[in-house]
Amino acid sequence: MTDPRPAAVIVLAAGEGTRMRSATPKVLHAIGGRTLLGHVLATARALDPEALAVVVRHDRDRVAEHALALDPDVLVADQDAIKGTGRAAWCALEALDSAATATTGAPVSGPVVVLAGDVPLLDAGTLGELLAAHTADGNVVTVLTTRVPDPTGYGRIVRTDDGQVERIVEHRDASPEELAIDEINTSVYAFDADVLRAGLRTLQDPASDAASNAQGEVYLTDVLALAHAHGAVRAIETPDPIIVEGVNDRVQLATLGAELNRRVLETAMRSGVTVVDPASTWVDVTVTLEQDVTLLPGTQLLGRTSVATGAVIGPDTTLEDATVEAGARVLRSHVTDARIGEGASVGPYTHLRTGTVLGPRSAIGAFAETKNAELGAGAKVPHLSYVGDAVVGDAANIGAGVITANYDGVGKHRTVIGAGAFVGSDTTLVAPIEIGGGAFVAAGSTVTRDVAPGALAVERAQLKIIPGWVARRLEGTKWAAAAQRAIEALGESVDEESGRDAAGPSGPARPSGTDEAHGGHTA
Ligand code: UD1
Ligand code: CA
Repeated sequence: MTDPRPAAVIVLAAGEGTRMRSATPKVLHAIGGRTLLGHVLATARALDPEALAVVVRHDRDRVAEHALALDPDVLVADQDAIKGTGRAAWCALEALDSAATATTGAPVSGPVVVLAGDVPLLDAGTLGELLAAHTADGNVVTVLTTRVPDPTGYGRIVRTDDGQVERIVEHRDASPEELAIDEINTSVYAFDADVLRAGLRTLQDPASDAASNAQGEVYLTDVLALAHAHGAVRAIETPDPIIVEGVNDRVQLATLGAELNRRVLETAMRSGVTVVDPASTWVDVTVTLEQDVTLLPGTQLLGRTSVATGAVIGPDTTLEDATVEAGARVLRSHVTDARIGEGASVGPYTHLRTGTVLGPRSAIGAFAETKNAELGAGAKVPHLSYVGDAVVGDAANIGAGVITANYDGVGKHRTVIGAGAFVGSDTTLVAPIEIGGGAFVAAGSTVTRDVAPGALAVERAQLKIIPGWVARRLEGTKWAAAAQRAIEALGESVDEESGRDAAGPSGPARPSGTDEAHGGHTA
């Protein structure tokens, strides 16, 4: 992708990260949907290096496993007990050299990029510029630098009279004049492989006094002073210090997380996405958004989520690994690993779980939950339902409070509802079960057998109404008093069957049967 292609990238990730105060290794903390190491590996891979090595030591197995899960072609290099960035780079180069020698018969040669594993905002474009300058100027080392208002703690760039880099001095080893330098080392470098190898070899020699610095460590930065013997050592300066900022504690983690999000949203807005409130909208770097998507306040889009044109998401909605097709509407809902069809409507207060697939123009509303469920085109689940392990046919209507009882305490079973079926409110469908196309299920039924297409299923215990029961059985209570007042207000005549005044508002008693199927409560 970039020109020139690096021979190798080395990612330093062996440090402990004590200031995170965490059981999780620093580089495995995440912002914007990726771990810190994940961001660095993605950037490194974008350079298309011939080899990519990650140096590990602290919490070695977790970091190595994570790196390999993200990028199976990564070479994991173990740092030994000797400390310092110079030791880490040496361990990586030894591993890279033996791998290269095994395949090509020669050690690594050409440009080697070194990065720190805790610098998540560094972009491939900046690295491309570093490599291009390194090659075009014929440098043996090119270091990326920046200027910061407070350089405390950083290595300072000491320049020669002709503008090259003479050496880098660590804060703790610097003289008062050197401490006044505000140009700092970002720990991002391009090295000629042979020059890096020669410099590091010199520094590893126990007879050398390489580790006689304030921290007693082998410093990678010391390679620069040694490299002058081989050629030009130059710097390129980035005007954007935040892209080279490392995470040391959780305050920086949040700061860089917010900055990354700001950049992701800015890119989205410039490509035609409306973000009503960037401050309350969080979008992972792995999300894709088409033109004319609208994100309302309080929206979080996570993981592999994609949203197609014209869709409106939010307010107060979280989508994780969701696919939203064109023109869909998702309002105040939580969605995980689901597909929402074209023009479909979700919410408010809907929970779509793994394996949900909503057909075009389908609708699912308040307090409905789905899991492993397919809704056909135009199907409706408007209120208060659980639909799990189910297929709902095109244009079927599921009334309020319908439950697919998919779990019998041992296994999960499927419910199949045919196209155009009507399931009345407060119905329980005990799976495995199939409701045929165009069938009706009367409200309040518990259905335990298949219903043929076009049939009516109705389950009723006989309704019993006992006139005068409240006044008699609850005599002396406020309930009895209320009953008495209501009866007196109606006059004397009380219908024997309904317990109502025979001439009351209900009119003649309804026949039992099909009328009762009109229990479906729909929007
Ligand atoms: C380093 C630089 C300093 C620079 C600063 C910020 C050196 C000697 N100093 O200092 O000039 O301004 O970064 O970019 O290089 N690591 C290992 N093994 C180790 C030690 C560190 O892999 O033994 C890794 C860490 O995990 C981290 C990176 O190297 O990813 C930088 O280490 P860190 O301890 O943060 O270096 P600084 O002291 O900040
Ligand atoms: Ca650091």
